Amino acid sequence: MSSILTERSGKVGIIRLNRPKALNALSLALVEELVEALRGFDKDSDVGAIILTGSDTVFCAGADIKEQKELSFVQAYSADYLKNLNDGLSSIHKPVIGVINGYALGGGCELAMMCDILYAGDKAKFGQPEIKLGTIPGAGGTQRLIRAIGKSKAMHMILTGEMIDASEAEVAGLVAKVLPADQVLGFSIERAQKIAGFSFPVVAMAKEAVNEAEELNLQTGLHFERRLYHASFALKDHEEGFGAFLGKRDPQWINQ
Ligand code: CAA
Repeated sequence: MSSILTERSGKVGIIRLNRPKALNALSLALVEELVEALRGFDKDSDVGAIILTGSDTVFCAGADIKEQKELSFVQAYSADYLKNLNDGLSSIHKPVIGVINGYALGGGCELAMMCDILYAGDKAKFGQPEIKLGTIPGAGGTQRLIRAIGKSKAMHMILTGEMIDASEAEVAGLVAKVLPADQVLGFSIERAQKIAGFSFPVVAMAKEAVNEAEELNLQTGLHFERRLYHASFALKDHEEGFGAFLGKRDPQWINQ
């Protein structure tokens, strides 16, 4: 059985993690399938945004504990275990919207943080419980959580292994919005359709500029942003957008 399910809804590609018996844990096979599906939607010119979700009760319970238990240091180090997950997500040009219901733990919380926008159901729970297993977060938890919610709260989660609920995650800035669990996917698909309705190259530029903010110092980041902003002036969609505004009509994007 496939570890993920994919479908299309209009211009949105939807990927569902699908290992219910292991609470969608990130087996090597799942990670490979996930990265392949993301790349497929990224290349598909009819898709403008991607949704990554789990089931109604669990997003993802982290690295596959049974698999990780069998990995020696040398095996993990030589294969650079889970680097393909981070590399896979960070190479996607289109926005990836994480929709979280239920648990997002360990590598599941880290996978969520690799997404560009997070919407959560009101029963969602986020945590980095690796410390309880005798290891530490290894797919970005120690790096992305501090950027998302600050040092003290990140340390609290990583050092105690305690979870935070959806409303705490929203207040802390980890997720963009919390909705009733049965409404969050529909809401997210609508927002993804909205994003997919804008000019593809402009959306990709905006995503790239925001993501660079995590890598660059302020002056370099402002310079990078300005260069992309200026570059957008060369797009036909820039001419169309400005012309449509001034002509008091809706723009017709041609993605060029
Ligand atoms: N890997 C593999 N299998 C997992 C799993 C995981 N991460 N999490 C749960 N499962 C399996 C359980 O072993 C169990 O399988 P069996 O029925 O065969 O026993 C099944 O899923 C259901 O789990 P529970 O019975 O534990 O379900 P629950 O509802 O009582 O508890 C839970 C849910 C709180 C999420 C609990 O399953 C749990 O704590 N899971 C582990 C979470 C965790 O520690 N994640 C971190 C992993 S390490 C990591 O991610 C490193 C990294 O940074 C990349």
